[in-house]
Amino acid sequence: MVNGCFTKENEMKYVTLNNDRKMPVMGLGTWKAAPGEVYQAVRWAIKIGYTHIDCAEIYGNQDEIGQAVADAVNEGDIRREELFVTSKLWNDSHAPEDVLPALEKTLQDLKLDYLDLYLVHWPVAQKKGTGLPESGADMIAPSELPLELTWAEMEKARRQGKALAIGLSNCGEKRISALLEKAEEMPAVLQIESHPYLPQNELIDFCRKNMIAVTAYSPLGSGHGELLADPRIAEAAARLKVTPAQLVLAWQINRGVVVIPKSTHVERLKENFTALGIELDRADMELLDGMNKDLRYVTGEKFAFGGYVPAEIFA
Ligand code: A2P
Repeated sequence: MVNGCFTKENEMKYVTLNNDRKMPVMGLGTWKAAPGEVYQAVRWAIKIGYTHIDCAEIYGNQDEIGQAVADAVNEGDIRREELFVTSKLWNDSHAPEDVLPALEKTLQDLKLDYLDLYLVHWPVAQKKGTGLPESGADMIAPSELPLELTWAEMEKARRQGKALAIGLSNCGEKRISALLEKAEEMPAVLQIESHPYLPQNELIDFCRKNMIAVTAYSPLGSGHGELLADPRIAEAAARLKVTPAQLVLAWQINRGVVVIPKSTHVERLKENFTALGIELDRADMELLDGMNKDLRYVTGEKFAFGGYVPAEIFA
């Protein structure tokens, strides 16, 4: 299908969520997509065929993304119903009275009536008005504000139709299991860092058993370069006549994991999108399966204040 000068070469693929709605397996990541650049990236992405945009309050660019989405819809590039928009509750709004207002603010910025998915960004609670924490004084202890209180408000947001699905990010099996004992609704999605150096196989298996879809953030290695330059990846990519980025994205998609690669460059947006059409055989899947280094690029150290311990955050 041709859309202006953009050719939609690949059909979108989907995973079905536990609310029976479909989530596109390829989304546009917007973390570190600078204001001034992200508008154009979203417009290009939609023309290329991306129907899923991953956002968050803390990224500081939702207003501009909202403008791009509104213009794309108004100019007939896409209909709202075809789009899947995710956003995330920032850590300073975990208090029950702050959750729904934070969602309203996000909806206002994104110029939307509803989100397709709203996630708790981190299982870490901070004082109202704090961005990235600077000291223990910015934190609220988990005992004071347990995650289940925040989750109950997320459930309310879903019941009100402000978020069609709700989920978690940066949580591990232990925390999710503990939450499920108190929760009325299961999370539909867990968003975690994942790439061949951090495959997260056990956690993904746990999610599969519990009908929780998994989204991999930083699927390209978060701009650090070493993953895409890994000789094993480079060699396999060359043999398959794809790029290293396409190979690592295809590996996730082939194992049923949603990816949200970030780029603000049109050629890379196209390159990444093309990974949708790549089928990997068992040997190549196993090659990437075998590259685990337990290497997190997003370590949680930014939240190592006030009794929060990075390793425990992801437990
Ligand atoms: P840029 O936005 O300048 O294109 P991740 O999604 O893992 O967080 O990775 C995002 C980083 O990878 C960004 O620095 C982005 O840069 C870069 N990137 C995105 N797509 C590609 C690609 N196809 N090849 C190489 N680097 C890419």
